[in-house]
Amino acid sequence: MKRRNGFFKSLRFRILVILILIGIIPGVLAVHIVISSYEGMAIKVRTDNVQKQCSVYAGTLVRSNFFGSEDHSVQDSQLQLLANLFHGRIMIIDRNFTIVRDTYRTDEGKTVLSPLVLQCLKGEESTSYNRKAENFEIAVPVQSPESTEALGVMLVTVSSREVSDAVASMEQREILLVGIIGAVIFLLSYLLSTILVKPFARVTKSIEDLTDGYQSGDISVPDYTETALITTAFNKLLTRMKILDDSRNEFVSNVSHELKTPMTSMKVLADSLLGQPGVPEELYQEFLQDITKEIDRENKIISDLLNLVKLDRRTAQMNISHVNVNELLERILRRLTPIARLRQIDLFLDCFRTVEADLDEVKFTSAITNLVENGIKYNVDDGWVRVTLNADHQSLMIDVADSGLGIPPDSLERVFERFYRVDKSHSKEIGGTGLGLAITRSAVNSHHGTITVESVLGEGTIFHLKIPLTYIP
Ligand SMILES: Nc1ncnc2c1ncn2[C@@H]1O[C@H](COP(=O)(O)OP(=O)(O)OP(=O)(O)O)[C@@H](O)[C@H]1O
Ligand SMILES: [Mg+2]
Repeated sequence: MKRRNGFFKSLRFRILVILILIGIIPGVLAVHIVISSYEGMAIKVRTDNVQKQCSVYAGTLVRSNFFGSEDHSVQDSQLQLLANLFHGRIMIIDRNFTIVRDTYRTDEGKTVLSPLVLQCLKGEESTSYNRKAENFEIAVPVQSPESTEALGVMLVTVSSREVSDAVASMEQREILLVGIIGAVIFLLSYLLSTILVKPFARVTKSIEDLTDGYQSGDISVPDYTETALITTAFNKLLTRMKILDDSRNEFVSNVSHELKTPMTSMKVLADSLLGQPGVPEELYQEFLQDITKEIDRENKIISDLLNLVKLDRRTAQMNISHVNVNELLERILRRLTPIARLRQIDLFLDCFRTVEADLDEVKFTSAITNLVENGIKYNVDDGWVRVTLNADHQSLMIDVADSGLGIPPDSLERVFERFYRVDKSHSKEIGGTGLGLAITRSAVNSHHGTITVESVLGEGTIFHLKIPLTYIP
């Protein structure tokens, strides 16, 4: 049943229907037009023929003074002869609408008031065709050439049976013809629709044939512009998936590496303590402190990773509340002041106006904290970090600028990647895992905001944040 529905919805079925309609409808119409114009023409030829003969005979009636004399025996036999010739009936009607002669002899003396007769008494020849009764009537005025008034009317009724029979047999042949043409068109359409949709089937097959995943290469079905567009779009998707797959692999290897490094250090420290007997108390203290540091580092990496995973999840729970952003920024900076003071770095907060916005306070705080922390970490002694807050009627804008080391242009694009650090050896002494900015960007994105960075090497860096004031889930 499902397959059936599928067929009726398919492109192939639609092409089939269109081809059949295009093929059959004009054919049926043409045959119809031919038949009905044949019918009209056949009736006209017959009418004209009868009319002509009757007109001639009407002249004879006038000359023999039909309406003036009493003896009609000659005319009677002539009328009968004429009626037999036409396979019809002839009535002669006088000016008082009385039937004077009827070749059927049934209606003589009766009165006729048909529009045909009335019209004819005015001097016009008139005809009428009754398709249902299979006959046509012709009224011919009996009129002397000198006078304008008709003396009477010759009303002829002729069967149109022959024409109807011919039309009926033509119609029968029409049905047969349409049937045969229909069958031929159906077959041709079926073949044509199969051929036309074949490239689409090939696209499907090519996609299905990529059994070993998206690593096996591009597909190509250039038969139509449409199939070429589909395959190009599909190949693009494939490339994107390959990139995603590669970055996932890289991420996994980075994570493993980052998690292994503190472990290795701890193992080395512990082994060296165990390896030499009678280690002095101070060395124990020192090594254990180092081990604790490595444990802290391991902890930070794990909690950062968990944070990232939570942020990345599409259904990440947003805890939105209406927040006074000025106060929140002040609190964040106050918390970071002790770290900044260690290197005599000044923290500034410039607010152009009071800003209130719908924010997830925890995520927003972690984003700003990461930026300011970086500003402090990658700074020179006695430097500064300046946070600026502004807003328009739609969004709040925060700039985090510093007087620090700066980021080289070729790294600007990459600093938001997980585990990316500009200068591995330099960064090692500063400490960090390269997850901070990835977390920041995820947090900003989850507020439907944007983050960009500008930097001049050796002069400083500035991060621009833009977040909508109202949160739309
Ligand atoms: N303000 C800045 N000035 C100069 N370089 C920066 C600045 N902020 C970030 N970077 C560079 O970008 C890299 C990535 O920063 P990110 O905050 O993601 O990681 P991290 O600070 O190394 O580690 P984490 O923040 O996870 O502890 C840093 O290692 C640093 O090289
Ligand atoms: Mg950082």
